[in-house]
Amino acid sequence: MLDEDTGYFLHQSLSTPCLNALKSCQGAWIQDVEGRRYLDFHGNNVHQVGFGHPRVIAAIKEQLDELSFCTRRYTCETTVALAKKLTELAPGDLNRVLFAPGGTSAIGMALKLARLATGRYKFVSMWDSFHGASLDAISVGGEAVFRSGIGPLLPGCERVPPPDHRHCPFRCGDACNLACADYIEYVLEKEGDVAGVIGETVRCTPFIPPLDYWKRIRAACDKHGALLILDEIPAGLGRTGRMFACEHYDIVPDMLVLGKGLGGGIFPLAALVAREELNIAADKALGHFTHEKNPVACAAGLATLQVIEEENLVERARALGNSALERMREMARRHLLIGDVRGLGLLMGIELVRDRNTLKRATEEAEQVMYASLRRGLNFKVTMGNILTLTPALIISQAELNQALDILDDCIGEVETARKV
Ligand SMILES: Cc1ncc(COP(=O)(O)O)c(C=O)c1O
Repeated sequence: MLDEDTGYFLHQSLSTPCLNALKSCQGAWIQDVEGRRYLDFHGNNVHQVGFGHPRVIAAIKEQLDELSFCTRRYTCETTVALAKKLTELAPGDLNRVLFAPGGTSAIGMALKLARLATGRYKFVSMWDSFHGASLDAISVGGEAVFRSGIGPLLPGCERVPPPDHRHCPFRCGDACNLACADYIEYVLEKEGDVAGVIGETVRCTPFIPPLDYWKRIRAACDKHGALLILDEIPAGLGRTGRMFACEHYDIVPDMLVLGKGLGGGIFPLAALVAREELNIAADKALGHFTHEKNPVACAAGLATLQVIEEENLVERARALGNSALERMREMARRHLLIGDVRGLGLLMGIELVRDRNTLKRATEEAEQVMYASLRRGLNFKVTMGNILTLTPALIISQAELNQALDILDDCIGEVETARKV
């Protein structure tokens, strides 16, 4: 199967060749064709309600029997119900919705709407950020690897340092004075005609900005007439211990972009949720996607939001995340290889370093820990070469979470010991 995958797909980075083939996914687990089971702390961040949630599957089946597609010109009950539910949940006057078949497309709609609403074309975004891999999304994305060799991109995209206190170019360290937020205001003032600031409220790495960070940027945007677009495609819908990550910061963006888990981990579905006063493009095509009102995807979305509420997954993410963070801090006291642990809800990370003073990235060690963990049944992603990024399903049990942390503890210990000999 791996040979066939290699034979049929256009090769692209991080997709082909694959590690193995999957047979099933259920709850917090995935299983490969050889019967190996893994707790999936990667899941592309689609698995807030876990894989194959029975409520989501039942809603999809029911919708398939009733109305499987909604032709343009028409609307339908399920799609309207999901739009209404999202606006009820979203903070402030985020009252207008457009659906898209993926997060990248929803980001594209947000950029267009910001241009139309402001009459400006420039954007400020963060180095190291990711907003999707299309031409518009990589124009505002901050990872050079996605842009290299691709050619001219959107003009007017300025990047600024992200809120990463460990590698902050302003060197304020633990005594953070939010110089990176002030720098955004500096750029907005210097340029004078920026349409919007786009950022991930909390990067999945994770990088968790200080409490006043977004407030300061919100104020700077208001002062300089720029719109604030928050990308919560992976971090929204409960993952951080709030329904939306921006709620931690007590601000309302002009646009909130959601995706990934919105389709219940089954359907590709994303949404742009915008402030009421941004309903200004009635004569323009912002998305115009064939599947913009797909009832089956929206049935999955509606059931997902119901599961998140009824199973108290937001509170669950907060409580489990706090207990995991405590355990990770305790691990950091024993393992010198751990340079930092961070978490907000069930968005967690362990940064591995060769030296706690120089913060030299322990990239080989991170890879060794990842493969050792895979052998023991834990799957996760390594970000920026040395950060073990841990995002389990929010329905995970305390016992499963403990099992994963035991695996990590052992594997980090093993790699550390092997390094010394
Ligand atoms: C922060 C962020 N924005 C945008 C995207 C793009 O979403 P999609 O892959 O659904 O197009 C991703 C996907 O990983 C993401 O992590």
